[in-house]
Amino acid sequence: MTTALITGSTAGIGAAFARRLAADGHDLVLVARDTDRLRGQATELHDRHGIEAEVLTADLAEDSGIESVAARLSDRKNPVDLLINNAGFGNKGRYLDVSMADELKMLKVHCEAVLRLTSAAAESMRERGRGGVVNVASVAAFVPRGTYGASKAWVVQFTQGAARDMAGSGVRLMALCPGFVRTEFHERAGMGTDNIPGWMWLDADKLVAAALQDLSRGKSLSVPDPRYKTLMGVVKVTPRALLGGITSRTGRKYGPQ
Ligand SMILES: NC(=O)c1ccc[n+]([C@@H]2O[C@H](COP(=O)([O-])OP(=O)(O)OC[C@H]3O[C@@H](n4cnc5c(N)ncnc54)[C@H](OP(=O)(O)O)[C@@H]3O)[C@@H](O)[C@H]2O)c1
Repeated sequence: MTTALITGSTAGIGAAFARRLAADGHDLVLVARDTDRLRGQATELHDRHGIEAEVLTADLAEDSGIESVAARLSDRKNPVDLLINNAGFGNKGRYLDVSMADELKMLKVHCEAVLRLTSAAAESMRERGRGGVVNVASVAAFVPRGTYGASKAWVVQFTQGAARDMAGSGVRLMALCPGFVRTEFHERAGMGTDNIPGWMWLDADKLVAAALQDLSRGKSLSVPDPRYKTLMGVVKVTPRALLGGITSRTGRKYGPQ
């Protein structure tokens, strides 16, 4: 039996990872801030799939929260085989509309927590000669898209660099870059989604299935779905000035996504 730890497990993409990994027979460590919601999720997944699901309440915007999750990942007696760094959020508003406190909170959750948790997990996994880390970034990493896109670009660069450094260790690291996914993300940030075309929306369960397949194939970068693979191909050959004009409008009616 293997164990997977998922941050931001209670909603959206993280919940889809939890459903899929539980169905595949993995024990889980579920991490988020809302303890009642975590407990309900743990009970449901245990009852449905017969797996063990631990609850770990942690705010990854706080040092104490990051430290408690890192300590769990470093526990050699109860090893974690797969880490999904998924917790994240968007801030409502464009650059300079958002307070510095909120900008720094996003960097803490998207970058510092991802660095510290990946490192705690990877050290322990390297000792055992096996393990996997999926860091959830975004296709926003590849386009000029405010501080959100910048933080996700860091996740992609960090993860692919670490994957290269750990080649041959038995530990796989992969950056996952979803397009738009119907989750609680936009509502939580107070963002409108009316101007996002219907064809751009991805299903979280299908996204997770594609991501896990890419991880098993040893990819360090996963852009699930042919629609977004094609779009990313177009992005590569589009001048950045033009790209900035298009991407700053799509899905940013009330702020960055
Ligand atoms: N939805 C999209 O279109 C989209 C596209 C590309 C990438 N992404 C990325 O995918 C990831 C998951 O997003 P989602 O769309 O699934 O969002 P979501 O539905 O809003 O879920 C976010 C999850 O993260 C947890 N969380 C938020 N802040 C946290 C914190 N400070 N500490 C610990 N847990 C925290 C939330 O639980 P609590 O509130 O209980 O803590 C919840 O479980 C994010 O990294 C996001 O940037 C999303």
